[in-house]
Amino acid sequence: MQLHDLKVLNWRAARPPGVAGAEVDLGLDYLPIDTCQRRVAICNGAAMLSLLRREFPDDGALECYQGADAYAFLLRFAAGLESKLVAETEIFGQIKTAWRLFSERGTPLGSQLSPWIQLLFQDAKEIRSQHLCSLGSASYGSQVRRLLGDEASGGPTLLVGAGQLAQSVGPWLPGSQLWLWNRTRERALELSRELAKRDPARPVRVLEAGAPAELAAWRAARNVIVCVPGDTAQDAVRVAAWNERADCGGRVIHLGLGAEAVAPWNTLPALVSLGALFEMLQAHSEQRRRQFERARRACREKALLRSLGASSSHPHSWEDLAAFDTL
Ligand SMILES: NC(=O)c1ccc[n+]([C@@H]2O[C@H](COP(=O)([O-])OP(=O)(O)OC[C@H]3O[C@@H](n4cnc5c(N)ncnc54)[C@H](OP(=O)(O)O)[C@@H]3O)[C@@H](O)[C@H]2O)c1
Repeated sequence: MQLHDLKVLNWRAARPPGVAGAEVDLGLDYLPIDTCQRRVAICNGAAMLSLLRREFPDDGALECYQGADAYAFLLRFAAGLESKLVAETEIFGQIKTAWRLFSERGTPLGSQLSPWIQLLFQDAKEIRSQHLCSLGSASYGSQVRRLLGDEASGGPTLLVGAGQLAQSVGPWLPGSQLWLWNRTRERALELSRELAKRDPARPVRVLEAGAPAELAAWRAARNVIVCVPGDTAQDAVRVAAWNERADCGGRVIHLGLGAEAVAPWNTLPALVSLGALFEMLQAHSEQRRRQFERARRACREKALLRSLGASSSHPHSWEDLAAFDTL
């Protein structure tokens, strides 16, 4: 597969609450990568691209990249430069998981894409280490930890959820006690085992499944971190339980809400929604902004180098880029 055959569709739209993931059309050979901020599809050739376009809503939120532009987009995506939480690290794991699941299907595209995906992972790691490491950690967990600050020492922290996001946030949560609640208790137990491996001394309690145990914890926790999607019926009782607390300190950080904090959450003064978290982070220093710009430029340059010489690790030199007038 040549780089000019690489086609990427990027549908920038939030996954609606409760919708699990992309429905993979097994009749089409493409690599789907579904995150809470976008749906990406990677395929080979123009014919497949035009079939794939029909899989996406015609709502103006669809972008199409081809060849070196597609590779540069994938690099920015993998390095976290396309994320609202710029330079976040979770996205790389999500892409690796999507690729592993796809390549296990053993379709022709799996072997055609494989060399490009290996290069992509290598280049994304390089971009991160050369341009983004010095920024400090940019994960949802690190931001939540920063936001909690001193609040964390005031009492137990309740983590609601045990999915991908909760797993990445859990290890970052400071404070005396961590309570885990999840609809499926077995997953919360799994998460507590993972946390114990990292920090055996950390007091972690796994709550019973079911609404009564969850609501009792909302009434007693100092802080609550929500890593499940919004749920119209359950959210009203969660907010009511939070409001019943005698001590009015603490925070609710809801990462499962969209950019807008909707009712009943928007009645809570202590709420930090995902959208609010992004806004806080937009107060980036000028230095961070320049660093992101350099990293984006590095993605573009790497993509051009890859387009000049398919799959070796240093196919061409910087002089080649100068000759192409890209620097
Ligand atoms: N992953 C990210 O990087 C990321 C970043 C920002 C925001 N988010 C948002 O965070 C939320 C969780 O994402 P995720 O990636 O962790 O998803 P995930 O791995 O699919 O896990 C989903 C979690 O939500 C729980 N859940 C789903 N529907 C529920 C319901 N109706 N009632 C109670 N619990 C329910 C699941 O419980 P069970 O174990 O019982 O199924 C599980 O704990 C989503 O709203 C997502 O949009 C995710």
